[in-house]
Amino acid sequence: MKKTGIILSLIISCISCSGNDDTLVPVVTEETPNPIALEIPQLFRDNILAPVIPTDNPLTKEGVALGKRLFFDNILSEDETISCASCHAPSSAFTNNTPTSAGVSGVLGNRNSMPLFNLAWNYGERFAWDGKELSLERQALEPIENPIEMNSDIEIVVQRLQNHPDYPELFNAAFETNIITKELLAKAIAQFERTLISADSKFDRYSLGQANLTPQELNGLDVFLREDKGDCFHCHGNPNNPLWTNNEFHNNGLDATFTDLGLGGVTGDPNDNGRFRTPSLRNLAYTAPYMHDGRFETLEEVIDFYSEGLQNSPTIDPLMKNVAQGGVQLSDQDKADLKAFLLTLSDPTFVSNPDFQN
Ligand code: HEC
Ligand code: HEC
Repeated sequence: MKKTGIILSLIISCISCSGNDDTLVPVVTEETPNPIALEIPQLFRDNILAPVIPTDNPLTKEGVALGKRLFFDNILSEDETISCASCHAPSSAFTNNTPTSAGVSGVLGNRNSMPLFNLAWNYGERFAWDGKELSLERQALEPIENPIEMNSDIEIVVQRLQNHPDYPELFNAAFETNIITKELLAKAIAQFERTLISADSKFDRYSLGQANLTPQELNGLDVFLREDKGDCFHCHGNPNNPLWTNNEFHNNGLDATFTDLGLGGVTGDPNDNGRFRTPSLRNLAYTAPYMHDGRFETLEEVIDFYSEGLQNSPTIDPLMKNVAQGGVQLSDQDKADLKAFLLTLSDPTFVSNPDFQN
């Protein structure tokens, strides 16, 4: 799109310059960023609300491209050795496969890196395991400065980008100014993150009538949905919720006492201790290990935990109804079938999408 304002003001300045060639403003054909619409999958359109896109940060082709470049660029970290993708790798549905991650300092954090997809549909806009980040724009700057992640001084990073041969031009294309700020840096990264949509799992295709599930996978779905079996759907959704999470905070019974308070550490309310955000069950094939601290290496371990490993505590969710017996007590067959169903929610198209690779 051409910037009509500039052209207009050029015409006006040429009228007022009345033929004096020396004062002619050079003709700039500056492009304005090209708006793009998120391609919302049919299942999302049919079942859930519109994505959250802040009015002051609409997606543009140039903004998304800049955000992608920043996401994969080591320049954001203190010693320029790691990027966002070091802990959020496309082939792992944008997480990594270690329980917790070391940042530039080599110090291990205490939380499992989170996969990144369908983030524009987190309506509560509370990000991180404990909800401490209130928007993608605000979240984007956090790892850059966090001592156990990229450990940078944001002003130094902004200066580095400003002195870089490419970035001022790329910010100019995306935001119509080559003066880089941390706010624009965050906006670009958030734009890229909103394009990370996962909606092409085997189960998605089944929902659209384009694929069949095996009898084992169908029984696994039944186990997942039945209150007298797995009873998983209250928090992780059902076939009418393509997100496969409610994005709410629950204590699912991992521990009797808490070293990490979760939501309680953010709100200061003891009733929130041990509550963490329900993760989506999409893409589990790529995102092991599991839980906020990556304590379970396999889905078998996760299912055994829900079946017989629950720990009681004052804040355990009332939906964990079988805690007195240790869990929902599934047969070996139902466990295997539940696992087979869970794996139908993984989306190979997402992890190999060329738009998301470095
Ligand atoms: C050293 C590893 C590491 C690096 C580097 C890193 N992250 Fe993360 N990321 C994490 C961890 C761990 C969490 C969970 C944090 C928590 O709950 O406290 C997380 C959470 C997130 C979330 C929240 C997702 C959700 O669903 O709530 C987003 C978004 C995110 N990171 C984006 C980024 C971006 C953008 C960068 C680069 C600027 C980045 N991360 C760099 C480890 C990392
Ligand atoms: C009361 C709500 C609730 C119910 C019911 C529930 N979950 Fe969860 N689930 C959660 C929460 C919250 C977490 C994250 C907990 C944490 O890390 O502290 C989680 C984590 C998981 C994870 C790990 C995902 C990841 O990316 O780390 C899997 C897999 C899972 N649940 C499957 C199930 C299955 C299968 C069932 C039924 C047998 C079930 N859940 C029942 C709330 C629930």
